[in-house]
Amino acid sequence: MQILDGKIVSRAVMDQLKAKVEELIAAKKRVPHLSVIIIGRNGASETYVASKIKNCEEIGFKSSLVRLEETVAESALIETINKLNEDDAIDGILLQLPLPKHINEQKITSLIDYSKDVDGFNPISMGNLALGVPSFIPATPFGIMLMLEYYNIETSGKHAVVIGRSNIVGRPISMLLSQNSTYGNCTVTVCHSRTTNIKEHCLNADIIVAALGIPGFLKADMVKENAVVIDVGITRIKDTSKKSGYSIKGDVDFENVAPKCSCITPVPGGVGLMTIAAVLQNTYNAYLQRNSSCQ
Ligand code: GUN
Repeated sequence: MQILDGKIVSRAVMDQLKAKVEELIAAKKRVPHLSVIIIGRNGASETYVASKIKNCEEIGFKSSLVRLEETVAESALIETINKLNEDDAIDGILLQLPLPKHINEQKITSLIDYSKDVDGFNPISMGNLALGVPSFIPATPFGIMLMLEYYNIETSGKHAVVIGRSNIVGRPISMLLSQNSTYGNCTVTVCHSRTTNIKEHCLNADIIVAALGIPGFLKADMVKENAVVIDVGITRIKDTSKKSGYSIKGDVDFENVAPKCSCITPVPGGVGLMTIAAVLQNTYNAYLQRNSSCQ
């Protein structure tokens, strides 16, 4: 059984990006700039955003954080996004989700300039993904694909079961795995809350992506021998033994599932770290595309 180690793979992606930044600095060029918008005081969002900013700093990207109150008017958020869209010094815009209930997520994500949409949530990016046209891929699915590539996991002709149909993970990863490309070409089954026989589907799967947000959902008796298991879950569970007061649990019953697998991602230390690396890779790609279209 091989652990698919997000620490190792994200480090490799970050090291490559850091080397690119060093080349830019040596050539006296500007460096990529990621702008992150956070609304309100959601603990998990604060952690993710802090981590994105810290990782930007580590590889030499510029970053900026725009903080808005939970009660911010939609019009004020739109104004903020328009300013960032128009600012030539900014390459990537990331609006941390979830948004407060009074803000229409669909409308707002469609307003982020397509050329700076490092989250890949703009309908143009999503449409391109569905069509197989190169585009920004949402960070978590992109991170999973980088992991499959790093470990050279055979996907062609395999049966992949994706549990979860969210716009952020389930839907895009199901499209990527079925695309006619290296690390695609799977036959994909998407399971969700109304699927009646998830266990049966999973037992037929060569690859399982668990992205439903229920800790420990995928049990050993749902997994066939030698399956590849990708755990996207990152639920916070109260844990008084931890300094933070919580521990992070994945959607897979790791202890019992891992011995049956050919490969598995741990939580923490798996897909979560890849998500950040993928945002940074998207920001670098946005920088390259914007620079080439300015010349
Ligand atoms: N909240 C949870 N996951 C994500 C993500 O991938 N991007 C953004 N912007 N917010 C999130």
